[in-house]
This record gives sequence, C-alpha cells and structure tokens, in this order.
Amino acid sequence: MLRGKNAVITGARRGIGRAAVECFAKYGANVWACARKPDEDFERDMAGLAREYGVWIKPVYFDLTDSGEMAAAVKGILAEKLPVDVLVNNAGMPHGGTLFTTSMAKLREVFTVNFFAQIELMQYFGRYMLRRKSGSIINMASVGGLEHEPGYLAYGSSKAALIWATRSCAKELAPHNVRVNALAPGLVDTEMGSYRNQTELDKVLARTPAGRMGSPGEIAEAIAFLASDRASYITGEILSIDGGRL
Ligand SMILES: NC(=O)c1ccc[n+]([C@@H]2O[C@H](COP(=O)([O-])OP(=O)(O)OC[C@H]3O[C@@H](n4cnc5c(N)ncnc54)[C@H](OP(=O)(O)O)[C@@H]3O)[C@@H](O)[C@H]2O)c1
Repeated sequence: MLRGKNAVITGARRGIGRAAVECFAKYGANVWACARKPDEDFERDMAGLAREYGVWIKPVYFDLTDSGEMAAAVKGILAEKLPVDVLVNNAGMPHGGTLFTTSMAKLREVFTVNFFAQIELMQYFGRYMLRRKSGSIINMASVGGLEHEPGYLAYGSSKAALIWATRSCAKELAPHNVRVNALAPGLVDTEMGSYRNQTELDKVLARTPAGRMGSPGEIAEAIAFLASDRASYITGEILSIDGGRL
C-alpha cells in the first residue's frame, strides 16, 4: 500500500508512533523515525524492523520544544535529496488539569509540544510538498479535542487547535495536491493511555461502546491508509477511532 514512499514519523520510539513505523515498513515505506534523543535500544529496534521488512529506517533526533534542533533535523532530512511523501505529526504529551489547576507555564509547554511543533513541521515539509505538488500530512489529534470534558484544559485545547489547523491547512494545500488529515483516537493502550487510575479508566471505558481500549496497531493502520494513494481524495478529514465513543 505504501511501497516506494518515504515518511517522516515523530514520536517513533514507543506507543502509536512505534506502531506506525512498523505498519509503514510492513506496507513497504521507508521511514525517518524521529525520537527525542539518541537511544541505542531504539536504534536496534529500528534496524530490526528495517531488516524484517526490507526497507530503510533512519533514526533522527530532536526535541519538539527546541526549534533549533527541529530546524537542523529537517535540514538534514531534506539534504538527503530523497522525496518526502508523508509527514506523520504523532508525538505529543498528555496533561490533566482544570482552569484553576493549569499553570500558564504548563499551558505553554503543552501547546509547544502538541501544537506549535506540529505547525512548524507542517511549515517545513508542507512548503517542500507544495513545490513537489504531492504529499500527505497526518496530524495526531484526539477525541479530547472534540469532546469538551473538564479536567483536560491544556491537552484538549491543544488538540482542538490542531484539528482547526488541519481543516484550514487542508483547504490551503489541496490545490497543490497536498492532503492534510487528522486522527482523533479515543483511549489507546500506550504509556499515555494508561496514566489514569483504575476509576478514571473505568469511567472512560463506560463511555466507550466497544468496551475496550484501542491498540496502537489499530491506530497505525488508519495512519497508513490516510498516507496512501487509496485516500487520494480525502483531505481535511478528522477521523475518530474511538470504539464508538463520540
Ligand atoms: N494513548 C492515547 O490514549 C491517545 C489518545 C488520543 C490521542 N493520542 C495521541 O497520540 C500521540 C501518540 O501518543 P501515544 O499514546 O503513543 O503516547 P506515548 O506512548 O506517551 O508516546 C508519546 C511519544 O511522543 C514523544 N514526545 C513527547 N514529547 C516530546 C518532545 N518534547 N519531543 C519529542 N518527542 C516527544 C515521546 O518521546 P519519548 O519516547 O522520547 O518520550 C513518545 O515517543 C500523541 O499525540 C497523543 O496525544 C493518544
């Protein structure tokens, strides 16, 4: 489904990002696997996936809070002169807090990681894709950005902002054959998905008709589909993958 495509995937070390790297490799894509900082276990893991599926997977390192690191990493990728067909803006951070328990410093940090960094990467790769007249960008939002549950002020607002930007940038880039979509997962079985205590978890599952968490692999399959040419007329879409929660 993705044979011959080259993709940049952030947050590749674990969770949904790691599952996306494996899924892309399985469907024949090469990947720049982006992680926060150099890590030998991660490099071994990526080399193993590359061997298993017969593609290349190149580790790239930058912290989303560091614009300088991010710019240098993007420059390095573009200097390889290989087509960049797909950007998966997956990395993100959770945060629970209400209007009165969310400090402005935390609000800024969450927006830096979950929104500003995604916009910055869309600017770099979107400009490049626009010149090539081809590309697919997938942003990782959340049902948290569509529901309005109290207790997730910073996280929910940052994901809602990303949803708005996805729809707007999709319209801006569609005339240039660049698609921009977002996924809005419900609760997914990763480190981020399991930070809640049992009572909170039960409450979320009670609102999830499927009665279970999603798996990272289930989210990765949808990312791969949106990245592929099978989704060539889909842009500006916010795809909820939430076991029927919304
Ligand atoms: N799990 C859920 O229930 C759920 C639901 C809806 C949406 N999502 C979204 O799905 C995406 C992936 O989440 P996940 O569940 O896979 O979570 P996860 O297992 O906690 O992974 C988060 C990833 O983001 C990376 N990251 C966080 N802050 C970063 C920074 N400052 N710079 C660079 N990388 C950073 C982490 O890097 P390190 O490995 O270096 O820490 C990690 O690879 C996120 O955007 C999240 O909001 C998750």
